[in-house]
Amino acid sequence: MNSDFELNVVILAAGIGSRMKSNLPKVLQPLANKPLILHLLNTLQGLKPAQCIIVYGHQGELVKQTICQNNTNDFAINWAFQEQQNGTAHATLQSIKYLQQSLATKPKNNFTLVLVGDTPLLQIDTLQKLITTQMQKQSKLTLLTAKVANPFGYGRIVRNAENQQISAIIEEKDANETIKKIKEINTGILLFDTNFLIQNLPKVNNNNAQKEYYLTDLIAMAVNKNLPIASNVLEENQSWQTEGVNTKLQLANLERIYQKHQAEKLLEKGITLLNLNNVEIRLSQEIICGKDVIIDSGVILEGKIVLGNNVKIGANCVLKNMIIEDNVIIEPFCHLENSIIKNNCSIGPFARLRPNSELGENVHIGNFVEVKKSMIGKNSKAGHLSYLGDAIIGEDVNIGAGTITCNYDGKHKHQTIINNKAFIGSGTQLVAPVEIGENAIIGAGTTLTKTAPENQITVSRSPQKSINKKIKK
Ligand code: UD1
Ligand code: MG
Repeated sequence: MNSDFELNVVILAAGIGSRMKSNLPKVLQPLANKPLILHLLNTLQGLKPAQCIIVYGHQGELVKQTICQNNTNDFAINWAFQEQQNGTAHATLQSIKYLQQSLATKPKNNFTLVLVGDTPLLQIDTLQKLITTQMQKQSKLTLLTAKVANPFGYGRIVRNAENQQISAIIEEKDANETIKKIKEINTGILLFDTNFLIQNLPKVNNNNAQKEYYLTDLIAMAVNKNLPIASNVLEENQSWQTEGVNTKLQLANLERIYQKHQAEKLLEKGITLLNLNNVEIRLSQEIICGKDVIIDSGVILEGKIVLGNNVKIGANCVLKNMIIEDNVIIEPFCHLENSIIKNNCSIGPFARLRPNSELGENVHIGNFVEVKKSMIGKNSKAGHLSYLGDAIIGEDVNIGAGTITCNYDGKHKHQTIINNKAFIGSGTQLVAPVEIGENAIIGAGTTLTKTAPENQITVSRSPQKSINKKIKK
């Protein structure tokens, strides 16, 4: 962010998450098809932390593996193992070695932000404001609190009646009836002066109802020492940012909040969404789009999507990593993946593009046509019921209904080449490797095993005969 402070981030992610009733560790549960913790890590990228220490425990190897495989950030990730889940202070303590190293290299303005791994919707400006507050107030710790309608289960923020300064955080299980009525809660997100944290973390005890080491006890410690504490408050309409995931219901609710925000981003870009509440956006980066794009109900957008001007995507289509140029119409129920569609094409309904396909301008791919790793030249058409795999198809080619490229011999994939202006009759099998010359015609029902020369009609068909029925009386 800037060079006058050093930021360490500790993510507490060792909890079991038993209420999810899943074999998958909680922080790997998917939101918009991406593990919860990766949402948080991506948000952190904007803060440019010096390091992020992930405290892991339950199924730690899987958490590590998933993050290592999918992390696109450039800050260092360090790992701290917590064998037994003895509480949030105990969890944070596992990262102390890394914090000490950081403090040794930058003793002044060294901060540590403690986050929980299951709050995927946290926004970067909220975290930036926390840092700004800490800098301005020169506080030893800055808390992010939130006002919520139902504070049940959360640590309550206790403020001094005279000056509204925070005096303690009291956990639900340790709270009396008066405390339980407080609606300002601890979000679990705390920014510490690293030196203060290192000095005091080992002093936390477990004298409480849960016999756990509470990170929140550091607040009372700072109060006792008259050290400055600051806080930022999230108002009720913003408290979704820090909502955690403990149950599948909470996960489902956060998914809806996330989707609503994503849909609003598409609307801001000028995309028309015919059903705002029924588009699933699982993009890995911001959509790139032209003007007058229309997306119908039930569409799923995944990965990296580029859309030109006047692109129309019909109902219930799935698009993953697609580049689609201008004036393309995708009819309903298409499944399109890792491919390029050039200007003026029309696709579907019920068409499938598998990875590494490229359709030239003005191509038509119709009902129940599957295209895999194939190039199709401009103005070519495959209207119905075909499989085109590992094929290079030229311009102005007509592929009849039921044409199949037999590209696989059981061991290897082979290529089919169809040159410009060829006409492939219906119900043909093109046994690859095979080539069809320019302007060739392949008769319907042909099983093609050899080259079909240009400008000729090639047909392989047993002669038709009619046999008398023997009718038994
Ligand atoms: C904590 C806070 C509470 C706050 C709430 C916000 C404390 C003592 N309480 O309570 O004030 O309102 O979060 O959600 O800090 N974890 C570990 N190791 C442990 C214990 C927890 O890694 O030994 C991790 C969990 O995986 C989780 C996070 O820390 O991501 C919070 O733990 P959790 O048990 O959910 O704390 P709460 O009781 O919810
Ligand atoms: Mg919790």
